[in-house]
Amino acid sequence: MPINWFPGHMNSTRQAIKDRVKAGLDVVIELLDARLPGSSSNPLLAALTTGRPSLKVLNKQDLADPAQTEAWLAHYNAQPHTRAIPLDAGDKAPARALIKACRELAPLRGDMHKPLRVLICGIPNVGKSTLINTLVGKKAAKTGDEPGITKLEQKFVLENGFYLFDTPGMLWPRIAIEQSGYHLAASGAIGRNAFDEAEVALELIATLKRRYPERLQERYGLTELGEDDAVLEAIGVKRGAKIRGGAVQMHKAAEAVLMDFRGGLLGRITLETPEEMAAWRQAAADADARKAEKAAADKAAEKEKRSGRRNASSGDA
Ligand code: G4P
Repeated sequence: MPINWFPGHMNSTRQAIKDRVKAGLDVVIELLDARLPGSSSNPLLAALTTGRPSLKVLNKQDLADPAQTEAWLAHYNAQPHTRAIPLDAGDKAPARALIKACRELAPLRGDMHKPLRVLICGIPNVGKSTLINTLVGKKAAKTGDEPGITKLEQKFVLENGFYLFDTPGMLWPRIAIEQSGYHLAASGAIGRNAFDEAEVALELIATLKRRYPERLQERYGLTELGEDDAVLEAIGVKRGAKIRGGAVQMHKAAEAVLMDFRGGLLGRITLETPEEMAAWRQAAADADARKAEKAAADKAAEKEKRSGRRNASSGDA
């Protein structure tokens, strides 16, 4: 799916993370959207923080399918140096689970002499500000800049010997997995001007038909589900998105489906499984490898052609 965007802040945030790694980092908290855990995981972050223990927080779990959240938690908890916990904004005391998991990941740190230094990251709109506000409450102190650390970074002291560093929400420049692009757009992580809403809504309908067909039928009073665009059209009709003359305004119908999904009005939904994500990741890596191979072959052929031309012209002379 073509996404026309400039992932704002990316370079400065990337630098802020590099600076944090250099200054000292014990645990990375990655806030994921529980409806699309794999797609909301930032590959750039993994590359910048390799080797650091990682806490995956599956946020907005109130909007996700509980059985799928369990599957994703098991998937992450089986990985080395990784813990995963579910969370949502309704949890008024998230600090306990979060601090406990971080302390387990870095048991040798966490006193006044050796504070536990934790970085929290997440894509835009994943709920990071909401969580930090709840975590920080009135007690925690926000402290000033450290030398060598960009002003983008904010430091919070959650309790004695526990420092939380925050950086702005960050996306990455190229979303190699097509399905992830659709899922991120459907979730609201990508600005609406950067993609075609009808295209994203049609993909969402295809996924819902496959995984939660009854939700679509219930929400929009549809007795049967036909082709994806016929379903979108039927939703438009139900929502009164017709213009004079009777044609359905597909972008209005698309907006309605996307708003309903984002607001949880279609029920608790998860768009992807760990197995699907692994297959998509592999397919994207294979496609990239094929592209690189073809580019190398084209370059070699061009070089050959040029040297052939050179030889021919020196033969002429
Ligand atoms: P960000 O800093 O990561 O960009 O995200 P932020 O906290 O601003 O949250 C983005 C939206 O997600 C907000 O909704 C927020 O209320 C909602 N949100 C955050 N955590 C949860 C959660 O666990 N469950 C659910 N259901 N929603 C959550 P908004 O409509 O953009 O703003 P608001 O009017 O609700 O504040």
